[in-house]
Parts: sequence; structure tokens; C-alpha cells
Amino acid sequence: MRNDNISTKYTVIKNGKIALADLNQQFSEDVLRGLSRSAKALPCKYIYDETGSQLFCRIMELPEYYLTRCETELLEMHKDSIGSLIDGERCNLVELGAGDGKKTKILLEQFLEMGIDFQYCPVDISESAVKQLASELNDKFPTLEMNGLVSDYFDGLRLLSSQNHARTVVLFLGSNIGNFSPQEAEAFLIRLRDSLNHGDLVLIGFDLKKADIGLILRAYNDSSGVTEQFNLNILKRINTELGGNFDIGKFRYLSTWDTQSNAVKSFLVSTCDQTVYIEGLDTSFLFRDGEQLHTESSHKFSEHDLSRMAAKIGFDVIRNFHDSKRYFANTLWKVKK
Ligand code: AVJ
Repeated sequence: MRNDNISTKYTVIKNGKIALADLNQQFSEDVLRGLSRSAKALPCKYIYDETGSQLFCRIMELPEYYLTRCETELLEMHKDSIGSLIDGERCNLVELGAGDGKKTKILLEQFLEMGIDFQYCPVDISESAVKQLASELNDKFPTLEMNGLVSDYFDGLRLLSSQNHARTVVLFLGSNIGNFSPQEAEAFLIRLRDSLNHGDLVLIGFDLKKADIGLILRAYNDSSGVTEQFNLNILKRINTELGGNFDIGKFRYLSTWDTQSNAVKSFLVSTCDQTVYIEGLDTSFLFRDGEQLHTESSHKFSEHDLSRMAAKIGFDVIRNFHDSKRYFANTLWKVKK
């Protein structure tokens, strides 16, 4: 049985069609808004087209990028317990930002072995990522029921609210939540909770605060320059999709630790005074020598942050799982309504 149904945002969301043009529209609006600000910034979700998703796969393989190794170890160590805790009546296993699903396969294999009755619904903004994951999973787990969705998290949440018939278990792995500031994360988790029912579960991956800031910074400043290429990809997308004329060679990547917000902040820094014209927006943007364009934040959380957030939002903490170094945590929360 093949179950490689993939719904793209424009066929599933909002009981009708949202034209593909709307997706491009959103990109151009966000670029116009972000580059018009006095502190220039772009939403990091736009890094992830096909190339960006591939570059992120390479990031996950980097020796410096400890996050993926820690979470993989954690999932291997605790997959039995996680399986037992989510086992029960049939559920939709929804994964937000599934990417290449490499870590998820550990759980999928475990759940199938345990005979857990579930359907897997990966949600990702990158169409190529969802397609590739679907075909890989079909080969690896021919009996797995699957329904993919190409969309950002918020449309994924809308999908969640529309399928209230079965229990839902949400996976939000890899410290994807770290792209949100604590306030944004809270707002996001409130929306997540609102779209779920009493008793539903969420498993969220958090990269934990640690004393060794050097270790954190090295994860975002790899010696092979992949992370730089990953960030620069957003400028390349503007060039190809919106007719921009960014000279990629005139920007360098910078990532710094921000003590105030407990986050790695990543920027593209203009290496000279330059004007960039974006045809699709019919607008020019001036970049000063040394001016920073903010591309991503990667927040780190304490155990205390996790329990405080869960309590405040209305989740019961079922269990926190850690890797052996306690660099990373996956926390299993239950919706309390
Ligand atoms: C996908 C958001 C978890 O912030 O660690 C990795 C993205 N950016 N290296 C992170 C990322 C640069 C990553 N997340």
C-alpha cells in the first residue's frame, strides 16, 4: 500500500484554493517589509527552499553542530519510553518542520514495532523536502500511513484544528522552536494548544542553555562555511524569485551570542556601501558598509524556562528526556483543558 499523499498549502488550507501566487506574494511582502526596516531583518523560514533544506541537511552532519547528534542519541536512548507514553488509541502523529525526517525515523520505526496505531503527517515549508521524505518513508516503511503537508507552521496548525476526530501527537523536534524568542515561543505554543484537544500530546526539542558559549557559537560558525552558504541562500532566493541583484560576494556571515536574549543571532553583513535593486518590488535598498541584515535567531532555554512555559500555557509535563551530556532536551507535554 502506498500512501504518499502530499497536500500543498494551496490545495488544503481554507476549504478552497490559495493560488501559488499568494505564496510568492507573501515572500515579496515580507522582503519589502524586512529590508525597509531601520534594523534590516528577514524571516528565517525563507532560507528553506530546496537548496536551503539541502544545506541544512549538511549542517546537521557538521562535527560542530552538536544539536542533531545529541537529539539523535536522546531519541535512541528513550524511544521505548516515548513509545509507551504515547501509545493508546489511534492518533495523528503530526510533525512540524519535518525536514529530512532523519531523527523522526528512529521514532517511526519504534512506534511501528510496538504496533502503535497512527498516521504520520509531516509538515514542512519545503515541497521538495516533503516529497523526498514521503518517497523515502514509503520505501523504508511500506505499511506506514502518511499524509504530508507543504506549509509553514501556522497553516499546519490550522490543519490540526480541522482534524479533531483522532487524538493528536505533535512532534516539534530539532530546536526549531529556538527560532522564536521566548515571547514568540509562548505565543506559538498557545496557538498550538488552542488547536489541540484535552489529552493530546506534544514532544518538543529544546537546545539547553549551557555555560560553554564557545561550544554553542562553534555550532553556528563551522569551519567549512556551510552555515554561511545556508544564510546567504536567502539572498540568492531574492535574486532568483524576486529579480534582485544582490552581489552575494559583498556580504559576509556573522553570528554572535546575545547574552540578553540567550540566543545566537545570525546576520549577513554588508562589506561596503551598496545599493541593491529588487525588480519584483521595484525598489532599491541601501546597505551601508558594515550594516547587518538579521537572518536568524537560535534561542537556548533552561529547564526552568521549559517548566514555567508549560505551566503558564496549560500543558502538563509528562517527562523530560535528555542526552547523556544534558545539552539537549525533548519534553513531552499533555494538553490540559
Ligand atoms: C533548524 C532552527 C534548529 O537554529 O540551530 C542551524 C537552524 N541555523 N545552523 C538552529 C540553523 C544555522 C537551526 N534550527
